[in-house]
Amino acid sequence: MNNSPLDKKLVEDKIAQLRIPDIGKASIREIVALVNLVEEASDFKYIRMEMGVPGLPPAKVGVEAEKDALDRGVSAIYPMVDGIKPLKEESSKFIKNFLNVDVAPAGCIPTTGSMQGTYAAFMAAGNCDKKKDTVLFIDPGFPVQKQQMMVLGQKYETFDVFNYRGDKLKEKLESFLAKGNINSIVYSNPNNPAWICFNDEELKIIGELANKYDVIVMEDLAYFGMDFRTDFSKPGEAPFPPSVAHYTDNYVLFISSSKIFSYAGQRIGIMAISDKLFSRDYPDLQERFKGTTFGSTITLRLLYSLSSGTSHSAQWALAAMFKAANEGEFNFVEGVKAYGERAKEMKRLFLENGFKVVYENDLGVPIADGFYFTIGYPGMTGNELVANLLFYGISAIALDNTGSDEEGIRACVSFVLPHQFGDLEERLKLFNENFSK
Ligand SMILES: Cc1ncc(COP(=O)(O)O)c(C=O)c1O
Repeated sequence: MNNSPLDKKLVEDKIAQLRIPDIGKASIREIVALVNLVEEASDFKYIRMEMGVPGLPPAKVGVEAEKDALDRGVSAIYPMVDGIKPLKEESSKFIKNFLNVDVAPAGCIPTTGSMQGTYAAFMAAGNCDKKKDTVLFIDPGFPVQKQQMMVLGQKYETFDVFNYRGDKLKEKLESFLAKGNINSIVYSNPNNPAWICFNDEELKIIGELANKYDVIVMEDLAYFGMDFRTDFSKPGEAPFPPSVAHYTDNYVLFISSSKIFSYAGQRIGIMAISDKLFSRDYPDLQERFKGTTFGSTITLRLLYSLSSGTSHSAQWALAAMFKAANEGEFNFVEGVKAYGERAKEMKRLFLENGFKVVYENDLGVPIADGFYFTIGYPGMTGNELVANLLFYGISAIALDNTGSDEEGIRACVSFVLPHQFGDLEERLKLFNENFSK
């Protein structure tokens, strides 16, 4: 690593200072802390690909509506735990307009980010049936949801979907579900970190098995509409992104404002519980939380206990953003396409310098360029790659952090600005010169 553009000793000292035992295995937050320390102690700027922070300004229509709501004095008033009426109604319309799925406003519930939505949903699903104490993650996935499992003290099983796409998914899923202990299936679509997207055939398999084994499907749509291979931006007009909601009534959808509206700081998203699941009685759940239906238990027991609802002003912001999208006045997909353009260019630079895309296609169709991509370097484990890239001024997390069995790293494009592409290219060249020998 003699050609590294960074003072090697400085990086090593900072790793020691943070007491990170194996830097290749470091969590997102550890990498963030390390890079911050190195940058503070030098003039060097990293190419930061470790954290999924939106790198675009927030949607203006949301900011304006939130300011208006604050001026009207909503801060003084507790919002309803299950959400303000305009937001519930616009959410329901948004799901109809952009997914072609019918969910009544009652089941559209704001949460303090999808993070809180999944936390409450895991808590409910984990108590619906005493025999079903385990969550099944279709990985790779979003690492913080595993942390939620740990905090909740719940059990989970997981498999990497890399080798189980298409009809192979059925047998694999059934090998878990047949045991009778699974209460829910979790995945994100588009997928964080791989940016693969399940197609209708795969979602049909998931939905039909959810019906057969009576499990809840948690479809995390944090990157809603961001499979830029298809234009999903026209309200009420096909094509619509595929969803499991067309194949089962046992679902909860999670739509976050963080990425599609660049509204992460206000911590708001919605969970949409199917009408049937919302009104379903689960005797074990009722015994555990002394509530009534699944939907009421989520709102009146769990969300009430966690935060007593979601920020009042942010609810007005989200209602306005959904409304503007529903009425065709705000093309939110167009607003985030810059991520796809960055990914395309960044991928090109990696590929020209000896790297390979790890999760490369959806059943033979190349994956879209979007918020994340996965990349590997021949002969190097994902952990080694994270560690080695850190000495070349590039930070990322290893894929094994995400439940993947493949060797490589997750590259998040949102924080890398086009004016840094030159630096990225230069560093990747130096890296390849050193390691291709
Ligand atoms: C797949 C996935 N789910 C959920 C979230 C969190 O969303 P929120 O900011 O709404 O809590 C993220 C954020 O990175 C994500 O990637």
